[in-house]
Amino acid sequence: MQEINTIDDLRRIVKSWRLTGEHIAFVPTMGNLHVGHLKLVEEARKLADRVVVSIFVNPTQFGAGEDFEAYPRTEQEDRAKLGANGVDLLFMPAVSEIYGHDVKTTVSVKKLSALHCGIARPGHFDGVATVVCKLFNIVQPDLAVFGQKDFQQLAIIRTMVHDLNIPIEIKSVATVREASGLALSSRNGYLNPQQLQIAPTLYQTLCHARDEVVRGKKPYQLIEKDAANTLWSYGFQTDYFSICRSNDLLVASKDDHNLVILAAARLGKTRLIDNIQFQTN
Ligand code: PAJ
Repeated sequence: MQEINTIDDLRRIVKSWRLTGEHIAFVPTMGNLHVGHLKLVEEARKLADRVVVSIFVNPTQFGAGEDFEAYPRTEQEDRAKLGANGVDLLFMPAVSEIYGHDVKTTVSVKKLSALHCGIARPGHFDGVATVVCKLFNIVQPDLAVFGQKDFQQLAIIRTMVHDLNIPIEIKSVATVREASGLALSSRNGYLNPQQLQIAPTLYQTLCHARDEVVRGKKPYQLIEKDAANTLWSYGFQTDYFSICRSNDLLVASKDDHNLVILAAARLGKTRLIDNIQFQTN
């Protein structure tokens, strides 16, 4: 595995692959890699001849008072994991390499970015869309792989690619979970042992709400309210718990059949997000 820190070096290598007709897959990450990230790498390897992974803790997607400084940086371990999983190129730029000049352009996917996580984290998705757009232009892959764990992020990236005619195919991978149901996340490392015991109840509550929706007996608003109460009783503070249409993430009615329940809830200072996608008849 080659490790590159500059845009020029990356472009030189990717160009040489392209000249021999190789297909290139890209997996953007912020590092502190777990099995969920490695599942994306595995999918990328299946779909292309070459796999590029980026590790870049992107400052512009963190708000004031969020965990940019504290975000776990585990380069040594990450490097070993990627090397062992058949990655061809690891791109680890410094912040100055990406934002060194005075960047005046922001990519903002309207409406979608203002919902759900966008309410508690204003500007977050503009930071995500802008850095992913920059990384796409730097790497110029044929396809890129994202996790369904960040359902809203995935919807925003798909919309950006469609709206801006970016010639990159977006693939997604199902959320990788612990046996308890807890979605793997770099932020799980912030949880103390007691919080780690409680954390899986977020997914259990999502599963229960899905079952209630499928049963079709209760109004959706009541299901959402009961779920927030359940989470409260476990010790969570719920940011949102919303039964949505999976295509545009707007509030679902009984006439909608392709659904996703999106949730964000805090355990102490740690904010966990998760979701469950399903269909009704
Ligand atoms: P990060 O949180 O490191 O996640 C990188 C990718 O891994 C994302 O596509 C995310 O959805 C996926 N992922 C995380 N946990 C997962 C799990 N349990 N199962 C499956 N996939 C999982 O998301 C970001 O970084 C950043 O916002 C980024 C897109 C890199 C832009 O900075």
